[in-house]
Amino acid sequence: MRTDVAIIGAGPAGLLLAHLLAQDGVESIVIEARTKEYVAARIRAGILESSSVDLLRSVGVGAGVDAGGEEHRGIYLQWPSERHHLDFVDLVGRSVWVYGQTQLQADLVAAGEAAGQQAYYGTSDAALHDLETDRPYVTFTDSDGAAQRVDAAAIAGCDGAFGPSRAAMPADQQESWERVYPFSWLGILADVAPSTDELIYAWHPDGFALHSMRSATVSRLYLQVPNGTDVADWSDERIWGALATRLGHGQNGWQLNPGPITEKSVLPMRSFVQSPMRHGRLFLAGDAAHTVPPTGAKGLNLAIADVALLAPALGALVHKNDTAAADAYSSTALRRVWRCEHFSWWMTSMLHLSGDPFDAQLQLSQLRWVTSSTAGAAGLAENYAGLPIGF
Ligand code: FAD
Ligand code: PHB
Repeated sequence: MRTDVAIIGAGPAGLLLAHLLAQDGVESIVIEARTKEYVAARIRAGILESSSVDLLRSVGVGAGVDAGGEEHRGIYLQWPSERHHLDFVDLVGRSVWVYGQTQLQADLVAAGEAAGQQAYYGTSDAALHDLETDRPYVTFTDSDGAAQRVDAAAIAGCDGAFGPSRAAMPADQQESWERVYPFSWLGILADVAPSTDELIYAWHPDGFALHSMRSATVSRLYLQVPNGTDVADWSDERIWGALATRLGHGQNGWQLNPGPITEKSVLPMRSFVQSPMRHGRLFLAGDAAHTVPPTGAKGLNLAIADVALLAPALGALVHKNDTAAADAYSSTALRRVWRCEHFSWWMTSMLHLSGDPFDAQLQLSQLRWVTSSTAGAAGLAENYAGLPIGF
Protein backbone atom coordinates (compact mmCIF):
# COMPACT_ATOMS: atom_id res chain seq x y z
CA MET A 1 0.00 0.00 0.00
CA ARG A 2 1.05 3.58 -0.52
CA THR A 3 -0.13 6.57 1.51
CA ASP A 4 1.09 10.00 2.60
CA VAL A 5 1.56 9.24 6.31
CA ALA A 6 1.75 5.83 8.02
CA ILE A 7 0.46 6.25 11.59
CA ILE A 8 1.42 3.61 14.16
CA GLY A 9 -1.04 3.50 17.08
CA ALA A 10 -4.79 4.23 17.24
CA GLY A 11 -4.84 5.96 20.64
CA PRO A 12 -5.93 9.60 20.85
CA ALA A 13 -2.67 10.85 19.27
CA GLY A 14 -2.90 8.54 16.24
CA LEU A 15 -6.61 8.97 15.57
CA LEU A 16 -6.65 12.75 16.05
CA LEU A 17 -3.61 13.06 13.77
CA ALA A 18 -5.39 11.01 11.08
CA HIS A 19 -8.42 13.31 11.42
CA LEU A 20 -6.37 16.53 11.21
CA LEU A 21 -4.42 15.24 8.21
CA ALA A 22 -7.60 14.20 6.40
CA GLN A 23 -9.01 17.70 6.88
CA ASP A 24 -5.92 19.04 5.16
CA GLY A 25 -6.26 16.55 2.29
CA VAL A 26 -3.39 14.35 3.52
CA GLU A 27 -4.02 10.59 3.36
CA SER A 28 -2.98 8.23 6.13
CA ILE A 29 -3.21 4.60 7.17
CA VAL A 30 -3.46 3.75 10.89
CA ILE A 31 -1.83 0.55 12.18
CA GLU A 32 -2.88 -0.61 15.67
CA ALA A 33 -1.75 -3.69 17.60
CA ARG A 34 -4.87 -4.09 19.75
CA THR A 35 -8.42 -4.81 18.67
CA LYS A 36 -10.82 -1.92 18.21
CA GLU A 37 -12.86 -3.18 21.19
CA TYR A 38 -9.81 -3.29 23.47
CA VAL A 39 -8.74 0.25 22.56
CA ALA A 40 -12.31 1.51 23.05
CA ALA A 41 -12.64 0.00 26.53
CA ARG A 42 -9.28 1.14 27.99
CA ILE A 43 -9.96 3.37 31.00
CA ARG A 44 -7.52 6.23 31.23
CA ALA A 45 -7.60 10.01 31.34
CA GLY A 46 -10.54 12.11 32.38
CA ILE A 47 -9.65 15.79 32.07
CA LEU A 48 -9.40 17.96 28.97
CA GLU A 49 -7.80 21.40 29.04
CA SER A 50 -9.63 24.30 27.45
CA SER A 51 -7.15 24.45 24.54
CA SER A 52 -7.77 20.73 23.85
CA VAL A 53 -11.54 21.34 23.81
CA ASP A 54 -11.12 24.42 21.58
CA LEU A 55 -9.08 22.35 19.12
CA LEU A 56 -11.54 19.43 19.09
CA ARG A 57 -14.42 21.85 18.45
CA SER A 58 -12.57 23.70 15.70
CA VAL A 59 -11.95 20.47 13.75
CA GLY A 60 -15.47 19.09 14.07
CA VAL A 61 -14.99 16.51 16.84
CA GLY A 62 -16.24 18.60 19.77
CA ALA A 63 -19.90 17.55 19.69
CA GLY A 64 -19.28 14.71 22.17
CA VAL A 65 -17.58 17.01 24.69
CA ASP A 66 -20.35 19.58 24.28
CA ALA A 67 -23.08 16.98 24.78
CA GLY A 68 -21.49 14.72 27.40
CA GLY A 69 -18.60 16.65 28.94
CA GLU A 70 -18.87 18.60 32.15
CA GLU A 71 -17.18 21.97 32.38
CA HIS A 72 -15.40 22.61 35.70
CA ARG A 73 -14.31 26.01 36.91
CA GLY A 74 -11.47 24.58 39.01
CA ILE A 75 -10.40 22.01 41.59
CA TYR A 76 -10.29 21.57 45.37
CA LEU A 77 -6.96 21.19 47.16
CA GLN A 78 -7.12 19.84 50.66
CA TRP A 79 -5.19 18.57 53.66
CA PRO A 80 -6.56 17.41 57.02
CA SER A 81 -9.12 19.93 58.30
CA GLU A 82 -8.86 22.30 55.31
CA ARG A 83 -10.37 22.28 51.83
CA HIS A 84 -9.84 25.16 49.40
CA HIS A 85 -11.36 25.78 45.99
CA LEU A 86 -9.16 27.19 43.21
CA ASP A 87 -11.34 28.89 40.62
CA PHE A 88 -9.39 28.75 37.33
CA VAL A 89 -11.95 30.94 35.54
CA ASP A 90 -11.48 33.75 38.05
CA LEU A 91 -7.72 33.23 38.17
CA VAL A 92 -6.80 32.81 34.50
CA GLY A 93 -10.05 32.93 32.54
CA ARG A 94 -9.96 29.27 31.48
CA SER A 95 -11.76 26.12 32.61
CA VAL A 96 -11.34 22.35 32.17
CA TRP A 97 -13.72 19.60 31.04
CA VAL A 98 -14.40 16.22 32.60
CA TYR A 99 -14.62 13.93 29.58
CA GLY A 100 -13.36 10.35 29.63
CA GLN A 101 -10.64 9.30 27.22
CA THR A 102 -12.92 6.36 26.35
CA GLN A 103 -15.56 8.86 25.16
CA LEU A 104 -13.02 10.88 23.16
CA GLN A 105 -11.65 7.66 21.65
CA ALA A 106 -15.20 6.70 20.56
CA ASP A 107 -15.72 10.17 19.00
CA LEU A 108 -12.46 9.87 17.05
CA VAL A 109 -13.26 6.33 15.86
CA ALA A 110 -16.71 7.52 14.69
CA ALA A 111 -15.19 10.53 12.87
CA GLY A 112 -12.63 8.24 11.18
CA GLU A 113 -15.29 5.76 10.09
CA ALA A 114 -17.50 8.54 8.72
CA ALA A 115 -14.55 9.85 6.70
CA GLY A 116 -13.54 6.40 5.40
CA GLN A 117 -10.23 6.45 7.30
CA GLN A 118 -8.16 3.33 6.55
CA ALA A 119 -7.17 1.57 9.79
CA TYR A 120 -5.80 -1.88 10.62
CA TYR A 121 -6.55 -3.20 14.11
CA GLY A 122 -5.23 -6.40 15.71
CA THR A 123 -1.90 -6.17 13.86
CA SER A 124 1.45 -7.59 15.00
CA ASP A 125 5.17 -7.21 14.24
CA ALA A 126 4.97 -3.54 13.18
CA ALA A 127 8.48 -2.51 12.07
CA LEU A 128 9.83 0.76 10.68
CA HIS A 129 12.25 0.94 7.74
CA ASP A 130 14.37 3.42 5.75
CA LEU A 131 13.66 6.33 8.10
CA GLU A 132 16.60 8.32 6.80
CA THR A 133 15.25 8.36 3.25
CA ASP A 134 12.22 10.24 1.89
CA ARG A 135 10.48 6.89 1.20
CA PRO A 136 10.18 5.23 4.63
CA TYR A 137 7.86 2.26 5.09
CA VAL A 138 6.20 0.17 7.76
CA THR A 139 5.75 -3.59 7.64
CA PHE A 140 3.28 -5.51 9.80
CA THR A 141 1.13 -8.63 9.95
CA ASP A 142 -2.59 -7.95 9.69
CA SER A 143 -5.29 -9.60 11.80
CA ASP A 144 -5.71 -12.35 9.17
CA GLY A 145 -2.01 -13.21 9.39
CA ALA A 146 -1.10 -11.62 6.04
CA ALA A 147 2.16 -9.67 5.68
CA GLN A 148 1.58 -6.01 4.77
CA ARG A 149 3.76 -3.10 3.76
CA VAL A 150 2.83 0.61 3.78
CA ASP A 151 5.06 3.03 1.89
CA ALA A 152 4.70 6.67 2.92
CA ALA A 153 6.30 10.09 2.83
CA ALA A 154 6.48 10.10 6.63
CA ILE A 155 5.78 7.86 9.61
CA ALA A 156 4.03 9.14 12.75
CA GLY A 157 4.96 7.13 15.85
CA CYS A 158 1.83 7.42 18.02
CA ASP A 159 2.28 4.01 19.63
CA GLY A 160 2.73 4.92 23.27
CA ALA A 161 5.62 4.29 25.64
CA PHE A 162 6.24 0.67 24.62
CA GLY A 163 5.69 0.73 20.87
CA PRO A 164 8.28 0.16 18.13
CA SER A 165 8.62 3.85 17.14
CA ARG A 166 10.55 5.06 20.16
CA ALA A 167 12.72 1.95 19.89
CA ALA A 168 13.48 2.80 16.23
CA MET A 169 15.21 6.07 17.21
CA PRO A 170 19.00 5.48 16.99
CA ALA A 171 20.44 5.36 20.50
CA ASP A 172 23.50 7.43 19.62
CA GLN A 173 21.42 10.35 18.28
CA GLN A 174 19.00 10.75 21.15
CA GLU A 175 18.77 11.77 24.76
CA SER A 176 16.21 10.75 27.33
CA TRP A 177 15.40 11.70 30.89
CA GLU A 178 13.46 9.63 33.38
CA ARG A 179 12.16 9.77 36.93
CA VAL A 180 10.52 6.77 38.56
CA TYR A 181 8.48 7.62 41.65
CA PRO A 182 8.53 5.45 44.78
CA PHE A 183 4.73 5.08 44.80
CA SER A 184 1.83 4.10 42.55
CA TRP A 185 -1.89 4.88 42.25
CA LEU A 186 -4.65 2.41 42.97
CA GLY A 187 -7.51 3.60 40.74
CA ILE A 188 -11.15 2.60 40.92
CA LEU A 189 -14.22 3.26 38.85
CA ALA A 190 -17.47 3.09 40.84
CA ASP A 191 -21.15 3.20 39.94
CA VAL A 192 -21.98 5.98 42.37
CA ALA A 193 -22.74 9.67 41.96
CA PRO A 194 -19.64 11.79 42.69
CA SER A 195 -19.58 13.14 46.24
CA THR A 196 -18.16 16.42 44.96
CA ASP A 197 -18.99 18.95 42.24
CA GLU A 198 -15.32 19.35 41.19
CA LEU A 199 -12.16 17.21 41.61
CA ILE A 200 -10.59 16.96 45.08
CA TYR A 201 -6.79 16.54 45.33
CA ALA A 202 -6.05 15.55 48.93
CA TRP A 203 -2.77 15.54 50.84
CA HIS A 204 -2.97 13.19 53.83
CA PRO A 205 -0.45 11.62 56.27
CA ASP A 206 -1.63 8.19 55.01
CA GLY A 207 -0.91 9.22 51.39
CA PHE A 208 -2.48 11.16 48.52
CA ALA A 209 -6.08 10.63 47.37
CA LEU A 210 -7.99 12.02 44.38
CA HIS A 211 -11.73 12.17 43.86
CA SER A 212 -12.50 12.47 40.15
CA MET A 213 -15.53 11.47 38.11
CA ARG A 214 -16.76 10.43 34.69
CA SER A 215 -20.43 11.44 34.80
CA ALA A 216 -23.32 12.22 37.15
CA THR A 217 -23.50 8.52 38.04
CA VAL A 218 -19.88 7.31 37.76
CA SER A 219 -17.02 8.24 40.10
CA ARG A 220 -13.27 7.74 39.52
CA LEU A 221 -11.05 7.73 42.61
CA TYR A 222 -7.37 7.12 43.30
CA LEU A 223 -5.20 6.29 46.34
CA GLN A 224 -1.42 6.57 46.68
CA VAL A 225 -0.12 3.05 47.37
CA PRO A 226 3.40 1.56 47.58
CA ASN A 227 5.01 0.28 44.37
CA GLY A 228 4.36 -3.41 43.90
CA THR A 229 0.89 -3.22 45.48
CA ASP A 230 -1.35 -6.15 44.56
CA VAL A 231 -5.00 -5.12 43.98
CA ALA A 232 -6.01 -8.42 45.54
CA ASP A 233 -4.87 -6.98 48.91
CA TRP A 234 -7.36 -4.13 48.57
CA SER A 235 -10.93 -5.24 49.21
CA ASP A 236 -13.70 -2.81 48.28
CA GLU A 237 -14.22 -2.14 51.98
CA ARG A 238 -10.55 -1.32 52.54
CA ILE A 239 -10.52 1.02 49.52
CA TRP A 240 -13.61 2.95 50.60
CA GLY A 241 -12.25 3.13 54.18
CA ALA A 242 -8.93 4.61 53.01
CA LEU A 243 -10.68 7.04 50.64
CA ALA A 244 -13.02 8.20 53.43
CA THR A 245 -10.08 8.87 55.75
CA ARG A 246 -7.88 10.62 53.21
CA LEU A 247 -10.65 12.64 51.54
CA GLY A 248 -12.01 13.80 54.93
CA HIS A 249 -15.36 12.03 55.32
CA GLY A 250 -17.20 13.80 58.15
CA GLN A 251 -15.07 16.96 57.86
CA ASN A 252 -17.40 19.99 58.02
CA GLY A 253 -20.33 17.68 57.27
CA TRP A 254 -18.85 16.43 53.94
CA GLN A 255 -19.62 12.80 53.12
CA LEU A 256 -18.03 10.34 50.73
CA ASN A 257 -20.71 8.08 49.25
CA PRO A 258 -19.38 4.58 48.50
CA GLY A 259 -20.84 2.38 45.76
CA PRO A 260 -20.18 -0.72 43.68
CA ILE A 261 -16.62 -0.79 42.29
CA THR A 262 -16.56 -1.82 38.63
CA GLU A 263 -12.82 -1.59 37.91
CA LYS A 264 -9.63 -1.62 40.02
CA SER A 265 -6.04 -1.23 38.84
CA VAL A 266 -2.59 -0.16 40.03
CA LEU A 267 -0.69 2.41 37.96
CA PRO A 268 3.03 3.07 38.33
CA MET A 269 4.13 6.73 38.21
CA ARG A 270 6.86 7.87 35.86
CA SER A 271 8.21 10.96 34.13
CA PHE A 272 10.01 10.43 30.83
CA VAL A 273 11.12 12.60 27.90
CA GLN A 274 12.76 11.53 24.67
CA SER A 275 14.59 14.08 22.53
CA PRO A 276 14.51 14.80 19.68
CA MET A 277 10.96 13.74 18.82
CA ARG A 278 12.00 13.17 15.23
CA HIS A 279 14.50 11.04 13.33
CA GLY A 280 14.59 11.47 9.56
CA ARG A 281 11.02 10.86 8.37
CA LEU A 282 9.84 9.41 11.73
CA PHE A 283 7.97 11.82 14.02
CA LEU A 284 6.97 10.82 17.57
CA ALA A 285 3.81 12.19 19.20
CA GLY A 286 2.09 11.65 22.57
CA ASP A 287 3.20 8.94 24.98
CA ALA A 288 5.62 7.57 22.35
CA ALA A 289 7.83 10.57 23.14
CA HIS A 290 7.00 11.37 26.76
CA THR A 291 5.26 10.21 29.91
CA VAL A 292 4.00 12.27 32.83
CA PRO A 293 2.68 11.10 36.20
CA PRO A 294 -1.12 11.58 36.12
CA THR A 295 -1.29 14.11 39.00
CA GLY A 296 -1.38 17.09 36.62
CA ALA A 297 -3.89 15.45 34.19
CA LYS A 298 -1.56 16.29 31.30
CA GLY A 299 -0.84 13.07 29.30
CA LEU A 300 -3.84 13.13 26.99
CA ASN A 301 -3.66 16.90 26.57
CA LEU A 302 0.00 16.75 25.61
CA ALA A 303 -0.79 14.08 23.00
CA ILE A 304 -3.43 16.43 21.54
CA ALA A 305 -1.03 19.40 21.57
CA ASP A 306 1.71 17.35 19.82
CA VAL A 307 -0.50 16.30 16.92
CA ALA A 308 -1.93 19.82 16.59
CA LEU A 309 1.64 20.89 15.75
CA LEU A 310 2.57 17.79 13.79
CA ALA A 311 -0.40 17.74 11.39
CA PRO A 312 0.34 21.05 9.62
CA ALA A 313 4.06 20.20 9.57
CA LEU A 314 3.34 16.90 7.80
CA GLY A 315 0.86 18.63 5.50
CA ALA A 316 3.55 21.08 4.34
CA LEU A 317 6.07 18.24 3.97
CA VAL A 318 3.75 16.03 1.93
CA HIS A 319 2.06 18.68 -0.23
CA LYS A 320 4.86 21.19 -0.81
CA ASN A 321 8.03 19.34 0.19
CA ASP A 322 8.41 22.24 2.63
CA THR A 323 10.48 20.95 5.56
CA ALA A 324 10.55 24.10 7.75
CA ALA A 325 7.71 23.14 10.13
CA ALA A 326 8.79 19.48 10.19
CA ASP A 327 12.32 20.59 11.10
CA ALA A 328 10.96 22.82 13.89
CA TYR A 329 8.45 20.22 15.22
CA SER A 330 10.62 18.58 17.86
CA SER A 331 11.98 21.73 19.46
CA THR A 332 8.59 23.48 19.37
CA ALA A 333 6.77 20.49 20.89
CA LEU A 334 9.44 19.94 23.54
CA ARG A 335 8.90 23.45 24.97
CA ARG A 336 5.38 22.53 26.00
CA VAL A 337 6.39 18.96 26.91
CA TRP A 338 8.93 20.22 29.45
CA ARG A 339 6.44 22.73 30.89
CA CYS A 340 3.95 19.90 31.43
CA GLU A 341 6.70 17.61 32.75
CA HIS A 342 7.57 20.22 35.33
CA PHE A 343 3.97 20.86 36.33
CA SER A 344 3.18 17.13 36.62
CA TRP A 345 6.32 16.51 38.69
CA TRP A 346 5.51 19.55 40.87
CA MET A 347 1.89 18.50 41.56
CA THR A 348 3.12 14.95 42.28
CA SER A 349 5.84 16.17 44.65
CA MET A 350 3.48 18.53 46.47
CA LEU A 351 0.78 15.96 47.12
CA HIS A 352 2.36 12.52 47.66
CA LEU A 353 3.77 11.32 50.94
CA SER A 354 7.49 10.59 50.63
CA GLY A 355 7.96 9.30 54.17
CA ASP A 356 10.31 12.17 55.05
CA PRO A 357 8.78 14.46 57.75
CA PHE A 358 10.70 17.50 56.44
CA ASP A 359 9.19 16.97 52.98
CA ALA A 360 5.74 16.81 54.58
CA GLN A 361 6.18 20.23 56.19
CA LEU A 362 7.41 21.71 52.89
CA GLN A 363 4.37 20.25 51.12
CA LEU A 364 1.95 21.72 53.64
CA SER A 365 3.66 25.09 53.39
CA GLN A 366 3.42 24.94 49.59
CA LEU A 367 -0.27 23.97 49.76
CA ARG A 368 -1.01 26.87 52.13
CA TRP A 369 0.77 29.27 49.78
CA VAL A 370 -0.94 27.99 46.64
CA THR A 371 -4.37 28.26 48.26
CA SER A 372 -3.88 31.64 49.95
CA SER A 373 -1.80 33.68 47.48
CA THR A 374 -3.40 34.82 44.23
CA ALA A 375 0.01 34.57 42.53
CA GLY A 376 0.50 31.00 43.77
CA ALA A 377 -3.02 29.96 42.81
CA ALA A 378 -2.76 31.59 39.36
CA GLY A 379 0.46 29.67 38.61
CA LEU A 380 -1.24 26.37 39.34
CA ALA A 381 -4.39 27.41 37.45
CA GLU A 382 -2.49 28.55 34.35
CA ASN A 383 -0.70 25.21 34.10
CA TYR A 384 -3.65 22.98 35.04
CA ALA A 385 -6.18 24.69 32.74
CA GLY A 386 -3.48 24.53 30.08
CA LEU A 387 -1.27 26.88 28.15
CA PRO A 388 -2.27 27.74 24.58
CA ILE A 389 -1.37 25.16 21.92
CA GLY A 390 1.89 26.31 20.41
CA PHE A 391 3.14 27.68 23.75
P1 FAD B 1 -1.84 5.67 23.83
O1 FAD B 1 -3.19 6.06 24.26
O2 FAD B 1 -1.03 4.78 24.72
O3 FAD B 1 -1.98 4.99 22.40
C1 FAD B 1 -0.92 4.29 21.80
C2 FAD B 1 -1.50 3.22 20.92
O4 FAD B 1 -0.45 2.53 20.24
C3 FAD B 1 -2.26 2.17 21.72
O5 FAD B 1 -3.55 2.01 21.20
C4 FAD B 1 -1.40 0.94 21.59
O6 FAD B 1 -2.16 -0.27 21.63
C5 FAD B 1 -0.75 1.17 20.22
N1 FAD B 1 0.47 0.37 20.05
C6 FAD B 1 1.42 0.06 20.96
N2 FAD B 1 2.35 -0.75 20.42
C7 FAD B 1 1.99 -0.93 19.12
C8 FAD B 1 2.54 -1.70 18.05
N3 FAD B 1 3.64 -2.45 18.22
N4 FAD B 1 1.92 -1.67 16.85
C9 FAD B 1 0.80 -0.93 16.67
N5 FAD B 1 0.21 -0.22 17.66
C10 FAD B 1 0.80 -0.22 18.87
N6 FAD B 1 -3.84 12.10 30.77
C11 FAD B 1 -4.51 13.27 30.92
O7 FAD B 1 -4.31 14.19 30.12
N7 FAD B 1 -5.44 13.46 31.89
C12 FAD B 1 -5.72 12.48 32.78
O8 FAD B 1 -6.61 12.70 33.63
C13 FAD B 1 -5.02 11.25 32.69
N8 FAD B 1 -5.30 10.23 33.52
C14 FAD B 1 -4.75 9.01 33.27
C15 FAD B 1 -5.16 7.98 34.06
C16 FAD B 1 -4.66 6.71 33.81
C17 FAD B 1 -5.15 5.60 34.67
C18 FAD B 1 -3.71 6.48 32.77
C19 FAD B 1 -3.15 5.10 32.51
C20 FAD B 1 -3.29 7.53 31.99
C21 FAD B 1 -3.81 8.80 32.22
N9 FAD B 1 -3.46 9.86 31.41
C22 FAD B 1 -4.07 11.07 31.61
C23 FAD B 1 -2.50 9.69 30.31
C24 FAD B 1 -3.18 9.45 28.97
O9 FAD B 1 -4.08 8.39 29.05
C25 FAD B 1 -2.12 9.17 27.91
O10 FAD B 1 -1.15 10.18 27.97
C26 FAD B 1 -2.73 9.11 26.49
O11 FAD B 1 -3.41 7.89 26.31
C27 FAD B 1 -1.66 9.26 25.42
O12 FAD B 1 -2.21 9.03 24.15
P2 FAD B 1 -1.33 8.38 23.01
O13 FAD B 1 -2.26 8.26 21.83
O14 FAD B 1 -0.06 9.09 22.88
O15 FAD B 1 -0.93 6.94 23.55
C1 PHB C 1 -9.13 10.93 36.06
O1 PHB C 1 -10.31 11.33 36.13
O2 PHB C 1 -8.85 9.79 35.67
C2 PHB C 1 -8.04 11.82 36.48
C3 PHB C 1 -8.32 13.14 36.79
C4 PHB C 1 -7.31 13.99 37.20
C5 PHB C 1 -6.01 13.51 37.28
C6 PHB C 1 -5.72 12.20 36.95
C7 PHB C 1 -6.73 11.34 36.55
O3 PHB C 1 -5.03 14.35 37.71
